[in-house]
Amino acid sequence: MATIRNGPRYESERGLRSSEWFDRRDLDGFLHRSWLKSEGVTDDAFRGRPVIGICNSWSELVNCNVHLRGLAEAVKRGVLQAGGFPLEFPVMSLGESLMKPTTMLYRNLMAMDVEESIRAYPLDGVVLLTGCDKTNPASILGAASANIPSIVVTGGPMLNGHWRGNQIGSCSDCWHYNEERRAGRITEEAFTEIENSMSRSHGHCMTMGTASTMACVTEALGLTLPGGAAIPAVDSRRAQLAERSGRAIVDLVARDLKPSDILTHRAFENAIRVLHAISGSTNAILHLIAYAGRVGVDLPLQLFDELCESTPWLVDLKPAGHFLMEDFYYAGGLPAVMAQIPDLLHLDAVTVSGMTVGENIAGAEIVNQDVIRPASEPLDEGGSLVVLRGSLCPDGAVMKITAADSQLLQHEGHAIVFEDVHDLAARVDDPELECDETSVMVLRNAGPVGGPGMPEWGHLPIPAKLLERGVTDLLRISDARMSGTSYGAVVLHVAPESAIGGPLALVHDGDVIRLDVRSRTLDLVVDDAELAARRDAWTQPQRKDERGYRLLHAEHVLQANEGCDLDFLRGRSRVVADAVTYL
Ligand code: FES
Repeated sequence: MATIRNGPRYESERGLRSSEWFDRRDLDGFLHRSWLKSEGVTDDAFRGRPVIGICNSWSELVNCNVHLRGLAEAVKRGVLQAGGFPLEFPVMSLGESLMKPTTMLYRNLMAMDVEESIRAYPLDGVVLLTGCDKTNPASILGAASANIPSIVVTGGPMLNGHWRGNQIGSCSDCWHYNEERRAGRITEEAFTEIENSMSRSHGHCMTMGTASTMACVTEALGLTLPGGAAIPAVDSRRAQLAERSGRAIVDLVARDLKPSDILTHRAFENAIRVLHAISGSTNAILHLIAYAGRVGVDLPLQLFDELCESTPWLVDLKPAGHFLMEDFYYAGGLPAVMAQIPDLLHLDAVTVSGMTVGENIAGAEIVNQDVIRPASEPLDEGGSLVVLRGSLCPDGAVMKITAADSQLLQHEGHAIVFEDVHDLAARVDDPELECDETSVMVLRNAGPVGGPGMPEWGHLPIPAKLLERGVTDLLRISDARMSGTSYGAVVLHVAPESAIGGPLALVHDGDVIRLDVRSRTLDLVVDDAELAARRDAWTQPQRKDERGYRLLHAEHVLQANEGCDLDFLRGRSRVVADAVTYL
């Protein structure tokens, strides 16, 4: 049983933020203390001690985060051991599998919840408990804007899925086996067996999807303790990590080390290097750009491409590779990856461990070279995510080339245009659909405004008639996102999006589209006069939401190349105790 250690205790003049609430000798101080004591704590538990918020995205609506109450208890033990006073509080949670139309629509709303909860309460530091894809970036965005000492504890990946001797990963194998089912190559019964065999424990998806990617990126940024990204959710070492994080946050408060001290341009470059080395999710690009906007760092989309060619791809995980997160942890996890590319990292970057990146990864070794390749034998000399520009995407688009059929990286074909996701669902399996293996599928009205929220619709299903012919990949283009667990020759995040008049809105069936990954270009091969005529005839689609948060989102969301934050959320807040008094 944990006990409260004596110290650190602060005199109020040392500037604990919480002292503005608890050390006052007036009616406000009386009320703050008296009501807190109703929770059964005494003065000695909190007076002069750093108050540590445990910001918990636990929810039974979010299976990936359902075990976070247990991790919160471990964090509390650590906080108490170090002499702090822990208080757990809930925030909105975002679950990929159940939330419609997409969690991305609500990332910024959850970020506001996190930020304003931190601002409004007497917290000196905060531990962010995150799991499912968007709960991690939403929490970090909020904490970055509140800018008090913060540590992230991710919930960890599920155990590997197993089906009939095969390792199956969420959800890369869902897409694969669904296409096998649509093509008639597996039965409905087998498909149900796979459903029952995939999700074997608590935790987030165990491919290198968005949740795993964001956990790795968080570690690379220095916001979580080293080695924390890959520990399986149900491994006792994850609770130990949470306990250590509880001790570490008290130390961070003592040193007043804030997100703005950690989220420097150098830290972002480290994160981008890691993103390429792990062949991570395209979604990370949006989130990192949004973080940078909160802390005033210039992080252009182009930088992701500039760092791509010189960063080797080292981690062989699905969807781009073969293994799963449990294998990754046993192979050495992220410290082993980072230790392979020290020359590409800013080793002096500061982290929440109190040590630099270089100190964190010193001595880290690869245990299994099938899963994590040494830098001398990479899976590819260059990284995985490229940024495209051209007449179809003047403000950029992204593509995960490691997940694509390499034959399609230089490609020219005729467009098949789907007006929106409903049009796609209605026609994609129509035997009369005019398409062949050279076709280029185009989906519009799936961007930040058009979706709304830029849903993960970018992995357009291959038309059934082509699947039956054995076609396994096709060039697909949209202003949507793609699940980090998906794969294929998929161009995403086209900006500006079609719903606000981007060139994607002007594509007609049969137009020629040319992709050249070598030159990083994506062009609509239609002459300027014709395009001008189409632009004159274009009318903006009617907006779907006319009230509430969705209206706010539609009016203020930034485009993909700017991270999809709300324009008014960029920057930081004042977090001095706003002196609201009773008298
Ligand atoms: Fe939560 Fe995949 S559904 S991480």
